[in-house]
Amino acid sequence: MNIGTIIHSLSTCASTNDLAKRLAQEGAVEGTVVTAEEQTKGRGTKGRSWHAPRGQGLYLSVILRPRRSDLSLLPLVAGIACAEAIREVSGIAVRLKWPNDVVWNGRKLGGILCESEFVGNRVKFAVLGIGLNLDQKPGDFPPDLRKTATSLRIAMRRGADREKLKRGLFAALDRWYSAFCRGRKGEIVRAYEAHLIIPKGKLIKVAKEKEKMTGTFCGIDSRARLVLKKDGRDILLFPAEILSIDYND
Ligand code: BTN
Repeated sequence: MNIGTIIHSLSTCASTNDLAKRLAQEGAVEGTVVTAEEQTKGRGTKGRSWHAPRGQGLYLSVILRPRRSDLSLLPLVAGIACAEAIREVSGIAVRLKWPNDVVWNGRKLGGILCESEFVGNRVKFAVLGIGLNLDQKPGDFPPDLRKTATSLRIAMRRGADREKLKRGLFAALDRWYSAFCRGRKGEIVRAYEAHLIIPKGKLIKVAKEKEKMTGTFCGIDSRARLVLKKDGRDILLFPAEILSIDYND
């Protein structure tokens, strides 16, 4: 794979994911990256917005054309790549909160938005969107994010080398996307679990649309589902089913 061989670097755009999807529809090759210094309508998961002010974060989207149709491990691939690249560039060990969050010190440092288009059962393209808070000081976050967000600058107590981080991220994405293409699901799940914020065996509370359940967290399965043991039974939960997870004592 050659992630980042072609990079569209923009000063501003609404959402790098939207632009990447348009480029993918127009035939852009696999591995093409769209990055912007700011996004005016950055998007998060579950219809949320993603705060993406100028120069303060890394906002990028990668176009992929996988031949497999089960894409459920792709967001996990991006999470592992973020954790490895951040570790390499800054020495900071972030944690991953299933399925899309990059967390440091209990606060959100980044997020992943994976979107795809299918023709029948075949994947036309997938877009992996990654947003990392890099340069914010605590007071830079809007009031509604101030208690829950953090940045790499806050974690490192100095600014990070953005270009080095980008290169490290592309290299790590390359490695883990290759593992994905080769069907090395167990390896991906194990690497993801090694960065997880919730330890296996922990009692967690999961909120679904119409139901709350408490059970023991047993890990992630090969379809990226959360495995919860409750009353002696394994319950498998898809990311889309879950509104929130409470894992504090
Ligand atoms: C989340 O945690 O909800 C996911 C956030 C994903 C944000 C990134 S920034 C680059 C790409 N473009 C977008 O509009 N969103 C993703």
